[in-house]
Amino acid sequence: MCGIVGYVGEQPALDVVMQGLRRLEYRGYDSAGVAVLGSDDELRIARKAGKLANLDAELAGTELPGTLGVGHTRWATHGAPTDRNAHPHRDCSGAVAVVHNGTLENFAELREGLTERGHSLSSDTDTEAVAHLIEERYDGDLAAAVREVAKELEGSFVLVVAHREQPDLVIGARRNLPLVVGLGDGENFLASDVTAFIAYTREARAVDQDQVVELRRDGVRVTDLDGNDVEGETYHVDWDTAAAEKAGYEYFMLKEIDEQPEAVAETIGGRLGRDGRLRLDELAISDEDIRGFQQVVIVACGSSYHSGLVGKYAIERWTRLPTQVEIASEFRYRDPVVGRDTLVIAISQSGETADTLEALRHARQQGAWVMAVTNTVGSSIARESDAVFYTRSGPEIAVASTKAVMTQLAAVYLVGLHLAQIRGTRDGDEVRSHYADLAAIPRLIEDTLTRMDPLRKIARDISDAERVLFLGRHVGYPMALEGALKLKELAYVSAEGFPAGEIKHGPIALIEQGTPVVVLATRHALSPKLVTNVQEIKARGARTIVIATDGDDSVTPYADHVIRVPDTKSLLSPLLTLVPMQVFSAEFAMARGLDVDQPRNLAKSVTVE
Ligand code: M6R
Repeated sequence: MCGIVGYVGEQPALDVVMQGLRRLEYRGYDSAGVAVLGSDDELRIARKAGKLANLDAELAGTELPGTLGVGHTRWATHGAPTDRNAHPHRDCSGAVAVVHNGTLENFAELREGLTERGHSLSSDTDTEAVAHLIEERYDGDLAAAVREVAKELEGSFVLVVAHREQPDLVIGARRNLPLVVGLGDGENFLASDVTAFIAYTREARAVDQDQVVELRRDGVRVTDLDGNDVEGETYHVDWDTAAAEKAGYEYFMLKEIDEQPEAVAETIGGRLGRDGRLRLDELAISDEDIRGFQQVVIVACGSSYHSGLVGKYAIERWTRLPTQVEIASEFRYRDPVVGRDTLVIAISQSGETADTLEALRHARQQGAWVMAVTNTVGSSIARESDAVFYTRSGPEIAVASTKAVMTQLAAVYLVGLHLAQIRGTRDGDEVRSHYADLAAIPRLIEDTLTRMDPLRKIARDISDAERVLFLGRHVGYPMALEGALKLKELAYVSAEGFPAGEIKHGPIALIEQGTPVVVLATRHALSPKLVTNVQEIKARGARTIVIATDGDDSVTPYADHVIRVPDTKSLLSPLLTLVPMQVFSAEFAMARGLDVDQPRNLAKSVTVE
């Protein structure tokens, strides 16, 4: 959580940093702040609680001249989201400005020591301690001071630091959280992710664990914490500014929903080799090792967990490997049974989710193989895995995940087919046939998107409901969970997803006259049983909104509203039913006047445990 920007170059730093923060606001919007170093060697700071718009207003008519700056957008951990706790934070002399993403576990003792040594701290944050520690260590070499301080810090951090005596130097340091360098011409950038500087450069360099970056106009040096130079990987970002902008949509979320056909086409496209075999070349696990797997464990959080649940159905069906799906935050605390014969698949859009990262670290310690399914090139989860499947959905800015989840679904199907092909549990014809079904999905999503107006109207009509239930069976169940999560996070109403067969064991008591129930009832071997479940809730007064396959009328007699999706193989149906889950929740929340890009209390990238 928290977005960080650092810049040194020839352009007005305030403009560059503010533009970067706009792109990073999805990482947190409790407060925002900037520091710019002027040619008079003064570090001028502006910071404001609330969204970036508040800082914009604060800055209106103010000048912060200078070509070196740092900025921050905050998701509060230590200290309330107030002006006083907004970053950047400074030392006693005002010479140092620090922005920080992360949490320092030893901050209480650091603060205590600083106070005893006569420093005066003016915020409730852990970050401010860092500024004062740098003040103590600084003797003209800012990089050396930050390296020394970094050694004293426990916990996770990305720090970006400026000093008023250093007009050509911004320092970055990282442990556990993301930091990338943008490599420009006569200018260089530091940021939490590449979207912050994509308007200026598409050349990037990843920063590794416990490394410190010295960013100057004409060069970048990266060292370890002892000051030894380290080599790094540079890469070209293959999408551009347009992909990170709203393009006329009111919200990023709406744009990202509409981008799904293209995103899935990117995930799936070009995966069949000339020999007719599925090729996932990036999955650098040997065929021999894949044949040795005895089980699969999928770890993920939130919507990515729901993709994992769908993955379980596909992987078990096609490979016959026992597959478990685990909430990542629970995984390592229950001493899970994983080892060399286990494939752990870590699914994460951001590639930085702390719970998922820790789960994969635990799995690797136990000797398991780890495969990442992520959207973020160079992310921590990608770098710490044995193999990576990139979902290629492009930048996702809205906090509620849409196209990233959709491409995760496509990815888990491909991974399942890949495992089945190598283990020989599905023959070549069957693999090709499933791949052909997947390749048809982008067109079917496009078709589904054109059918959503009636659902939008229903969502608006019932947007005063305080409880909505979602039911599904088989792969419809994870999508019911996803529909409920989306509605909770966007509309702040109580929403729950259940396996339809389970409601008679308790949840049916929630149904009153008019309770809206969204039923994922696409055609499936279990359809007759689902029809019975719908009858049960209808008889108790539920207002049923049924998602049904074209031409299937088995459930429609019990539906108050029917939304049709195109036909596909039942196992692949989540790739279509996900669309109405997204559209319904977005419309419901917008009808309540809510900002669907930045729901309250949330952040896009959850880098705390
Ligand atoms: O970046 P990740 O995929 O690891 O994120 C996992 C969850 O935090 C994320 O899916 C979250 O549930 C979203 N807000 C869902 O819309």
